[in-house]
Amino acid sequence: MDMTVSRVDPAFRDDVRRCFAEGSHAIPARWLYDRRGSELFEEITELPEYYPTRTETALLEKYCGEVADMGAKGRAVIEFGSGSSTKTPHLLRATQPTAYVPIDISGEFLAASAAQLQEQFQQLPIYPLEADFMRRINLPDEVSNMPKLGFFPGSTIGNMIARTSVDLLRFMRETLGTGSQLLIGFDRIKDPDILVAAYDDSAGITAEFSLNLLHRINREMDGDIAVDQFRHIAIWNDLYARIEIYLEAQSDVCFSIDGQQYGVTKGQKIHIENSHKYGLRDARLMLRAGGWSPVSEWSDEKNYFSLILAEAHPLKNAP
Ligand code: TRP
Repeated sequence: MDMTVSRVDPAFRDDVRRCFAEGSHAIPARWLYDRRGSELFEEITELPEYYPTRTETALLEKYCGEVADMGAKGRAVIEFGSGSSTKTPHLLRATQPTAYVPIDISGEFLAASAAQLQEQFQQLPIYPLEADFMRRINLPDEVSNMPKLGFFPGSTIGNMIARTSVDLLRFMRETLGTGSQLLIGFDRIKDPDILVAAYDDSAGITAEFSLNLLHRINREMDGDIAVDQFRHIAIWNDLYARIEIYLEAQSDVCFSIDGQQYGVTKGQKIHIENSHKYGLRDARLMLRAGGWSPVSEWSDEKNYFSLILAEAHPLKNAP
């Protein structure tokens, strides 16, 4: 049997079927992050147009000491969607955690990043967890009795629609427990030209990252999609305050996936990502809707990005 076929996540197969057979013309963004996708995303974070990573990293360098002083010290750090964990050392140095649990959907990538971090922090117990954090997660027993600090950088929350973000914040509250804290990054609303450029860079890396989704379908589901017949596009939706990413068919395209024939017509757009942006108080409202009380917020001088520390206070039966 072909190993690449047997490795397909059945949920991925279902989502691809829904896209082409049921005509949803949308594929959830989590499937962008196979090994190749995770590598390409790391390249995105270094692009001149992609301001979020460097802005957030600078905020962490500058303010992690303040975060530590607000009760974040000596907890177990649980990172959601850890990727390469490049931002984490700043936080770990400042908060001196009792343990670190990086959670990521790309298992291979996770293991490599965790091993690298372990070299830098030899005394720190690290428990990597390969999981989709959009579903309920059981944390390792080793950390169950430790006070916790959730870490959710990169404005990854913005990749969910509002209802799903609130669900996720509530899950996180259940997973981490009352009394825990959450340090979370939110990308801010700004000039749409700056936003669009961040999601459609001149070197074409973001396009390659998006189109890798079709290559992944070809690789894992024995597909023959002509990837060069699709174009990456990023648009600003002002009503929803979000960047939307699509793969647009440049001609009528027929292809097969797992032996099934499908087609899309010229101009058809496949929706693969949203990246919501937040106004001054939007992020705090979102947190409160998910059961988290904002404790403090830090931004850069251009207000491009915000870091918010929030706390899971005991729930009150009050107005
Ligand atoms: N969390 C990142 C963001 O919204 C993810 C991302 C960056 C992304 N560039 C992308 C997702 C391009 C899809 C396509 O900024």
